[in-house]
Amino acid sequence: MTTAADRPVALKVEDLSVAYGAVRAVRGVSLELRQAECLGVVGANGAGKTSLLAGICGLVRPAGGRVSLDNVAIGGLKVEETVRRGLVLVPERRQLFASMSVRDNLLLGSYVLGRERKVPEQLERVEELFPTLAQRREQRAGTLSGGEQQMLAIARGLMSSPRVLMVDEPSLGLAPVVVDAVVDALRELRRQGMTLLIVEQNVRLAMALADRLLVMEQGAVVRQTGADAVVDEEALVAAYLGGPTDRKADRQAGDQEEVSRFV
Ligand SMILES: Nc1ncnc2c1ncn2[C@@H]1O[C@H](COP(=O)(O)OP(=O)(O)OP(=O)(O)O)[C@@H](O)[C@H]1O
Ligand SMILES: [Mg+2]
Repeated sequence: MTTAADRPVALKVEDLSVAYGAVRAVRGVSLELRQAECLGVVGANGAGKTSLLAGICGLVRPAGGRVSLDNVAIGGLKVEETVRRGLVLVPERRQLFASMSVRDNLLLGSYVLGRERKVPEQLERVEELFPTLAQRREQRAGTLSGGEQQMLAIARGLMSSPRVLMVDEPSLGLAPVVVDAVVDALRELRRQGMTLLIVEQNVRLAMALADRLLVMEQGAVVRQTGADAVVDEEALVAAYLGGPTDRKADRQAGDQEEVSRFV
């Protein structure tokens, strides 16, 4: 059986920094993601997780460092170009077009494919992965439940047939039972061989999904789990437990009475 360590590196980030004026949000972060691997990035509010993703995919221009996708440098390219090359971000809080239909939101995700015949093929693939979206094709995105909206955001990201998918806080604001469904969908994607970088505040959820975790604090990676690092996972959960107790999640969360595997 091949392990992740035998597979080629899909995404490599070296010494990446992101700054907003005087605010240094990401300070010299390095990471490697191998093909079909799932890496989790955890950390508290304001740790720099979203800024890291933004710097990697070109949503913001990094202040320094290098990014490569399949050994080709992509640092400093604009986001349209990194999407074209196979790196896709599913943004925090989904950012769907609420008044547009589910189908049209999906089609927007495929714009880099142009008029290629691959579009119907991709639609079929993502609707197979998310059957509820197929049933709700004509419905406006804004009328979907929180969980369905997260599924749609992931599905839209898949429409351009990415080689690496980065997902920013998939559980944010979702009721626990719905979180389980989103996790199951991400697991299925993994099983199909997708290379994933998942940012989460819910450490248990990140542990359940990812092969290994990076912990960010104040813009830097301060700990990591994995073959070459022995980490007390319970201590990690205790130190960084987020999810439903987190303030940002509280503002959006649905019914917290419902039980999840990850709280
Ligand atoms: N557009 C921006 N302009 C100025 N400062 C910003 C901007 N976006 C983020 N920051 C700052 O950068 C730091 C890192 O923020 P970032 O959103 O990357 O953290 P995060 O780990 O994703 O947090 P959260 O868990 O709340 O999503 C914070 O101090 C934040 O206030
Ligand atoms: Mg964030």
